[in-house]
Amino acid sequence: MPDSILFDRFRLGRLELPNRAVMSPMTRSRASGSIPNALMAEYYAQRASAGLIVTEGVSPSPNGLGYARIPGLWSDEQVEGWRLVTEAVHEAGGRIFAQLMHTGRVAHPANLPEGGRVLAPAAVALEETRMWVDEAGGTLPIPVADRMEPAEVEAAISEYVHAAQNALEAGFDGVELHGANGYLIEQFIHPHTNRRMDAWGGSVATRCRFAIETAERVAAAIGGDRLGMRLSPYGVFNEMPLHDEIDITYAHLARQLGEAGLVYLHVIDPSPQGTPQAREDLKASMRDEFAGAFVLAGGYDHERAAAVLTPGGGDAGVDDETRPAKADLVAFGRPFLANPDLLERFRRGADLNEPRPELFYSPGAEGYTDYPTLDA
Ligand SMILES: Cc1cc2nc3c(=O)[nH]c(=O)nc-3n(C[C@H](O)[C@H](O)[C@H](O)COP(=O)(O)O)c2cc1C
Repeated sequence: MPDSILFDRFRLGRLELPNRAVMSPMTRSRASGSIPNALMAEYYAQRASAGLIVTEGVSPSPNGLGYARIPGLWSDEQVEGWRLVTEAVHEAGGRIFAQLMHTGRVAHPANLPEGGRVLAPAAVALEETRMWVDEAGGTLPIPVADRMEPAEVEAAISEYVHAAQNALEAGFDGVELHGANGYLIEQFIHPHTNRRMDAWGGSVATRCRFAIETAERVAAAIGGDRLGMRLSPYGVFNEMPLHDEIDITYAHLARQLGEAGLVYLHVIDPSPQGTPQAREDLKASMRDEFAGAFVLAGGYDHERAAAVLTPGGGDAGVDDETRPAKADLVAFGRPFLANPDLLERFRRGADLNEPRPELFYSPGAEGYTDYPTLDA
């Protein structure tokens, strides 16, 4: 399927995307001392043929830098480092958003910079997750986070706003808020990690307040047309159990984030193979509730992506062109990680390189910038 709908242009806020393929955000742990560098600029520039690149998770705060060697965006040095990346991507003809990821309770104190604290909506321990710490040379259990005081909740929102402003300063085309995968924003959304009974928890609406207020405040600072959010309904990563209020929670979020003027909603498809009907319905209702562009991610190849981008497509055996497409854009993670020229490979119907997971988070160029292109 060389000339599929994946290669159609798409208007996303101020950007004209040359195709409908987004590079999914992927933590790669190459930023020693939390500052982006020339190697990272090379990695992202290699992938500039994506319609849009979303960076790895970037912490807006010293408190949110829970993993080893992930980058930040609160200091001038970090802004300077990111400028290398945005300039290299733009020079190569690409477009790039920064993903703001505050790890909240999913953090080891030994990974945080000086003065950083492990904070979360409530003091709820991770039972099984262990985390890599460079100084220990191995993985360690994660100590329980401190419950945020109301002033610390307000401060965290201000950190997102400041980091988003820094992102523009560093030359990014926009920002994605990471509201998925069990990090700080989802820790507020989810009843397992949000045990608060104050203005920031207790009901669906108050649990969603942190996500919505952060989005509203960042949109006011940089423009909703430069802001997206990622969500993972039915996601269980980082010990987030399923619960009874998932559907009403995510319909509420989609509506409110649409009203906040966000340019896209980026939903990690809970189970692309054999999705139960209830979850299909939730995706459809989120798409209906949300006014902007809808991005689906997780387990896509060229064929499945083209199906969800096509009106009436996406369900085996159903072909009703009067039904809207399930998505406007599709994000690819591991395929982009292992194939810098993913779009060209799709265009030619060529084989893909296999990712090397043992090098996903290791320092250095190996397994990072050395995946070959077709022409290499
Ligand atoms: C190495 C690696 C790092 C990831 N880091 C992030 C991240 O920082 N932020 C995020 O939202 N998702 C992250 N993800 C999830 C991906 O964005 C994507 O949703 C997931 O890989 C499924 O898509 P795929 O099947 O196309 O790979 C990561 C995935 C991988 C493989």
